[in-house]
Amino acid sequence: MLEIKDLKKRYGRFQALDGLSMEVGDGELYGFVGPNGAGKTTTIKIITGLLSADSGSVTIDGVDALRDRRILKQNIGYVPDFFGVYDNLKVGEYMEFFASCYGIEGLTARKRCASLLEQVKLEEKKDFYVDGLSRGMKQRLCLARALIHDPKLLVLDEPTSGLDPRSRVEFKEILKELCERGKTILVSSHVLSELSEQCTGIGLIDQGKMVMQGSMDWLLSKVNTSNPLIISVLDNRERAVAILRSHPACRPSP
Ligand SMILES: Nc1ncnc2c1ncn2[C@@H]1O[C@H](COP(=O)(O)OP(=O)(O)O)[C@@H](O)[C@H]1O
Ligand SMILES: [Mg+2]
Repeated sequence: MLEIKDLKKRYGRFQALDGLSMEVGDGELYGFVGPNGAGKTTTIKIITGLLSADSGSVTIDGVDALRDRRILKQNIGYVPDFFGVYDNLKVGEYMEFFASCYGIEGLTARKRCASLLEQVKLEEKKDFYVDGLSRGMKQRLCLARALIHDPKLLVLDEPTSGLDPRSRVEFKEILKELCERGKTILVSSHVLSELSEQCTGIGLIDQGKMVMQGSMDWLLSKVNTSNPLIISVLDNRERAVAILRSHPACRPSP
């Protein structure tokens, strides 16, 4: 579905992306994980056509997306890290406005919007002002908006940061359902554990480079064995060892 090769981007003298490559297969829920400043937003802005790369390639189903912006816009739905919503519109009006931006009008638009609002569990909020929605609801509305032109690939930049725990779980459930319905999803986060349950594949980025990429199971096995925790105890050593041994996440070192 999405293939990125040797992507480079400089901001002045600062090399934000330094030869980043990654591959997202059809139907994957792909977690794009890295610390703040790693280059996630820069990568996502290039994929979505908002920023130009210095060099490298981005292909969507084999088509050069950096050259053919129309193909890119047809195929990608984007949920940015900071988004504005139009406060003086009702939820239904907001959706129909964005539908009309894609040339979807009338009954088709109303049906599409109703179906999307149902998918993000906002069908009952159709006649509410966007202004009055909670942050989690606004985030889900933004997701519905990104799906309006039925894109193959959905790209979300840290969608769960700033949400309360319940809204996070709800949001991740919706992403999983969308993936089961056939969407390919790329979602970024600076917390690996935030995505590890849902994702089929994962890419770890640091300082503008892909550090590790693969299936979630493969990655967790690597992280577990190559990154042991060293714990020093001041007292009651036997007791501490017994408690640690009883924990399901602990394994004796080889
Ligand atoms: N417009 C910009 N001008 C200069 N530096 C930038 C700009 N945007 C991002 N950067 C820098 O590029 C690096 C990568 O940023 P970003 O892609 O936003 O990372 P992430 O989303 O992983 O936190 C950071 O060090 C950031 O400070
Ligand atoms: Mg970012």
